[in-house]
Amino acid sequence: MTINPLDFSDKRVLVTGGSNGIGNGIARAFREAGAEVAITGTREAKDYDSDIAGMAYHQLDLGDDAAIQALARKIGQLDVLVNNAGMVVYKRREFEAETFRKVMDVNLTATLTLSNLLKPGLAATGGSIVNIASLTSFFASAGNPAYGASKAGVVQLTKTLAVAWAKDGIRVNAIAPGWIETKMTEVSQTRPAINDEILRRTPLGRWGKPEDIAGVALFLASPLAAYTTGETINVDGGFSCSI
Ligand SMILES: NC(=O)c1ccc[n+]([C@@H]2O[C@H](COP(=O)([O-])OP(=O)(O)OC[C@H]3O[C@@H](n4cnc5c(N)ncnc54)[C@H](OP(=O)(O)O)[C@@H]3O)[C@@H](O)[C@H]2O)c1
Repeated sequence: MTINPLDFSDKRVLVTGGSNGIGNGIARAFREAGAEVAITGTREAKDYDSDIAGMAYHQLDLGDDAAIQALARKIGQLDVLVNNAGMVVYKRREFEAETFRKVMDVNLTATLTLSNLLKPGLAATGGSIVNIASLTSFFASAGNPAYGASKAGVVQLTKTLAVAWAKDGIRVNAIAPGWIETKMTEVSQTRPAINDEILRRTPLGRWGKPEDIAGVALFLASPLAAYTTGETINVDGGFSCSI
């Protein structure tokens, strides 16, 4: 019998921020591939319009260490951790130290905290981690110093954990999405000048969808990527190699 490397039946997957956007796209793809999927969001499950059917829902603020610890205790053993949840703050508020710290906590420190807490559960299964970085891991984001710094940190943390935890049988990779249609990018989608420039510079000529990120997340978590670790893959319709 041929084994399908993208069959995640009997695998346990946690996607932070699976309540919405990219995380929800990733969570749905794992569910469709047979996995038992747990997700987090900041609100109550009933407050979401997204398709979260059949997923175990956990309310979580990644700025709250005690809440992260409580979630990790509930999850225990797992095959795939997707550190997807993230935040950005506009109107130049990320230049203020308090806001800078909050964004760094949620986007970067919580990625380390949750990964550390779930490391034994991942080591037990020979599991893997997929972190969500950004093109602003590499490019300046003039209005968002915390977002950019946190996402640059995600790329470096991905490399460090990959090297540190290889001996534990855990692979750690990341995806740097380009411009994806979600709540986070609503402002850019609705401003014609920004939208036109994004489309002009994207060789594939369209915004990305959460499903575009999900396919690469499944690949990275699957045996097809068994020799891939410490890597960040740009999934951006060619934006980063265009001018
Ligand atoms: N969209 C893009 O173009 C793009 C590009 C590059 C990278 N990314 C990254 O992709 C990831 C997903 O973003 P998205 O575009 O899908 O945006 P989104 O639709 O706004 O989703 C963000 C997710 O993170 C959760 N979240 C926000 N703050 C949180 C906190 N303090 N504690 C716990 N969870 C929190 C949200 O929960 P609620 O649902 O409760 O709000 C939501 O599930 C983020 O890491 C983002 O930085 C996005």
